Amino acid sequence: MKTRKNKKVLVIHGPNLNLLGKREVSIYGKTTLEELNTLLKKEAKKLSLSLEIFQSNSEGEIVNKINSSLGKVDFIIINPAAYTHTSIAIRDALLSVEIPIIEVHLSNIFSREEFRKKSLISDIAKGVISGLGIHSYLLALKAVKALIN
Ligand code: DQA
Repeated sequence: MKTRKNKKVLVIHGPNLNLLGKREVSIYGKTTLEELNTLLKKEAKKLSLSLEIFQSNSEGEIVNKINSSLGKVDFIIINPAAYTHTSIAIRDALLSVEIPIIEVHLSNIFSREEFRKKSLISDIAKGVISGLGIHSYLLALKAVKALIN
């Protein structure tokens, strides 16, 4: 019998998230990016989702990654980090590929500085999970599984 291919999810971590675990620990927590990625891989396996993880500090590289996902990825989970608040290019890239997305943030962007309350991504996302630390990502993965079937 032919087995059905697992759906593919791309997780994108934006700038400075490479420093998780060292960076502003009181806001972003002690978990490193490597530890978070390991947890995401385990969860994806449990959910029978195929997972690719990408981190970049560069807006252009994130745009290129989104562009090259066209036709290859079923869902994107993105923490655009500081680009959340500034990047029309990332917004346009997400609109161009028409892949459903969930926007995630470790911190609650609505309880911080005024400039963080504005996201250029939220209105084009299926949903937004903000403020639950690494659980924001893990819950997003569970939501993808529920939404994709
Ligand atoms: C962040 C929130 C952003 O405002 C900030 O620039 C980040 C991380 C978060 O995950 O809480 O780098 O996206």
